[in-house]
Amino acid sequence: MDKKTIFSGMQPSGAITLGNYLGALKNWTTLQDEYNCLYCIVDMHAITVRQDPTQLRQSSRNLLMQYIAAGLDPTKNIIYYQSHVPAHAELAWILNCYTYMGELNRMTQFKDKSKSHSDNINAGLYTYPALMAADILLYQTDLVPVGVDQKQHLELSRDIAQRFNSIYGDVFTVPEPYIGKVGAKIMSLQEPVKKMSKSDDDINATINLTDDPATIIRKFKRAVTDNLAQVKYDEIAQPGISNLMAIYSAITGDSYESIQNEFEGKGYGDFKLRVAEAVISELEPLQQRYKQLSADKNYIDTIIKENASKANYLATKTLRKVQKKIGFPPIVR
Ligand code: TYM
Repeated sequence: MDKKTIFSGMQPSGAITLGNYLGALKNWTTLQDEYNCLYCIVDMHAITVRQDPTQLRQSSRNLLMQYIAAGLDPTKNIIYYQSHVPAHAELAWILNCYTYMGELNRMTQFKDKSKSHSDNINAGLYTYPALMAADILLYQTDLVPVGVDQKQHLELSRDIAQRFNSIYGDVFTVPEPYIGKVGAKIMSLQEPVKKMSKSDDDINATINLTDDPATIIRKFKRAVTDNLAQVKYDEIAQPGISNLMAIYSAITGDSYESIQNEFEGKGYGDFKLRVAEAVISELEPLQQRYKQLSADKNYIDTIIKENASKANYLATKTLRKVQKKIGFPPIVR
């Protein structure tokens, strides 16, 4: 009732990474009591790059189960598939007409993805931020918990909301970003100047939430560091070590200073192993719960059905308001 609203989402475009978890999902679980939360599986965004249909269906379901396994209670949070709520597409079209090409041209994600998918630079990839604005604005969202890489998209969502409101009155709540202090930008374990990404071809660059302990240890052992032989937070001189410190800090809650003290005079081997162990114990309960959920088809299906209906109800309310404001004729019943 009086609670503020939170909206966020993830693309089901492959196995989610430790970056997604520490930058977003882990924070989401801490917000569920204080806010009304909607967490979406944004399958409509995922098709802006080519997806295998069977895999997309499976990844979407896996992601929904991972949300719950990570601790999101599906009776407190509205957890749903974007494609089950047609209002996202309808509002996105409208917002496309209030978004300038000049704005879209500046989006760094569009520039990056145009490079990595140069054979498929489609219109959806270009107008992606208008769909993202629709996702957020449909629910009169106050706060959007995301990693640093989504900041630019969020700023555009705010600009679109303000532009719309300045023409038609207060239709949309103008959302604020919520970016965690640590973990908001986890880097690749192999190229620590680049963010950890689900679409990385190098399997050693990312930790997946489903990785088993041996794999996690192996990947951290191979993580690229430097030869300065000191555990110290310095993103420029020691990006690899700083990234490991960010991971360790996001999980343990320890400050960089206390991590520096803890590992003073110790080798990188020891430090890497401790980080790996922290990640393993963080992910273990999540993995167990995920396994249980995978075996409970009916339970998951019920969540999908009930939550889509709640999201549809809320989204349609905003959509009807917008349609009325811009002059679409009312539906005759
Ligand atoms: P996506 O699917 O790329 O990422 C999901 C969330 O994970 C965060 N993230 C990271 N955080 C820290 N370190 C990293 N290496 C890292 N990689 C990803 C992202 O910032 C994000 O919070 N466009 C969005 C999905 C989306 C959305 C929305 C988000 C669609 N509509 C509305 C918020 C609100 C995306 O592609 O996220």
